Order: sequence, then structure tokens, then C-alpha cells
Amino acid sequence: MEAKTYTGGNFNWVAPAYDALAFIVFGRRLQRAQTVFLDRIPPNAIVLIVGGGTGWLLEQILLNCQPKHVVYLETSSRMLARASQRLVRKALVGSVEFRVGDESSVKPDERFDVILTPFVLDLFSEQTLHAVFLPRLRAGLKTGGIWLVTDFVQPKIWLQKGLLWTMIQFFRLTAGIQTTHLADWQKQLAKSGLTCEERQTQVGGMVSVEVWRKIKR
Ligand SMILES: C[S@@+](CC[C@H](N)C(=O)[O-])C[C@H]1O[C@@H](n2cnc3c(N)ncnc32)[C@H](O)[C@@H]1O
Repeated sequence: MEAKTYTGGNFNWVAPAYDALAFIVFGRRLQRAQTVFLDRIPPNAIVLIVGGGTGWLLEQILLNCQPKHVVYLETSSRMLARASQRLVRKALVGSVEFRVGDESSVKPDERFDVILTPFVLDLFSEQTLHAVFLPRLRAGLKTGGIWLVTDFVQPKIWLQKGLLWTMIQFFRLTAGIQTTHLADWQKQLAKSGLTCEERQTQVGGMVSVEVWRKIKR
């Protein structure tokens, strides 16, 4: 059977090395950034994690946020397998559905209190964010619900610009992502009708952690 092609690339090949590579380049800083606004997740929330990779963030949410139910949506079956093995290995308790697929796999009648996209928006072009990715996920967010974003933003320092360019080229080669440069995802989130409530810069200004709310239906 032919593997499905996703616009956000196929991370199966890079999955076994992903965490080690991220650690070599950034240490624990990318993980720390993802925890900044986790306390905004209310208890008993129905949570959608999109592109959570090997499951570190899922572990933190189960340990610290008491969600009612989590849908773990990943296009990479290998990333997803690692995340589910992590739950077993660490004996984590919680109601989690692992689902291989992309934003189109969110069912029309599903509604989430919280959506998280950790280092995922940077995989897409502005056109794909605007026309496909953001509207599909926004439809699955309850009115009043929040969308927690952690992602790279356009750096000002030349060294960081070079690092970001190298990362995009690396994932174009290894995962087949289609974007050629970092999209202005903040502009696209605002255009999609969400409101930014909180924002914190991390990783020397390269990463922004943000809370966006769906105020209007
Ligand atoms: C750059 S990695 C980040 C992984 C993880 N969030 C982390 O920070 O370690 C992006 C992840 O998003 C997944 N992904 C890409 N496009 C996706 C989509 N449309 N829906 C769900 N997952 C997606 C990839 O398989 C990959 O695991």
C-alpha cells in the first residue's frame, strides 16, 4: 500500500533520531518552552494534541493537567508508536486515543476545549495554513476554547537565522516538508479569527509560546 503524502511531511524516517537531534541543538529548551502555558489547560478538558512527536508533551499533560480525554493526532506512525510506548513504559494513566492522520482526521462532530500544536505550524506555507490547516482545526475548537502554540518565529540574530534556515532545509530533505521559509503563523492565526491572549518569548527570541482563544463561533 502506498504511504499517504501529507503537506506537513513524513517524519517516519527521522522519528528514531528526532529527540536526540533536538537535544544536541537546543538542549531541553524546546521542551521547557512547551510547558510555559500548560497551567492554562483546565481540569477535565478534552484535548487535541497535533504533531506531538514522541510524546514528551503528552506525558506532561497527563501528569500535570488532569484532562478528561486526549486525542493524539500524528501523521507519523513511528512517532505515534513511540508516544504510545512511552505511556506504557512510564505507566501513565489517562484516557488517550492515538490517531494516525492529519487535520482532516478530526471528525466533523468533535469539539475540543484545548488544541496544542507544538512546533507544527512551522512546517507549512502561509497558503496551507490559511486555506487548510487552521480552518480545519479551528472548526474543532469549542467557542471559548484555547489553542496553545509553541513555535519558531522570525529571529533577529544572524546566527539564529542561519540555524532556522538549516532546520527547514534539513526537514525538507529528511521529511519532505513543502515550505521553503517560516510562515507568519501569528498573522494567519489572527486572520482565522482567533485572539492572542498571552505570549512569551523563549529560546533567546527564536521561539514564541502563545495562548490563542476562539471567542466567536
Ligand atoms: C517538528 S516535529 C515536532 C514534534 C514534537 N512536537 C516536538 O516538539 O518534539 C513535527 C511533528 O508534527 C507531525 N505532523 C506534521 N504534520 C502534521 C499534521 N498535519 N497533523 C498531525 N501531525 C503532523 C510530524 O509527524 C512530527 O511528529
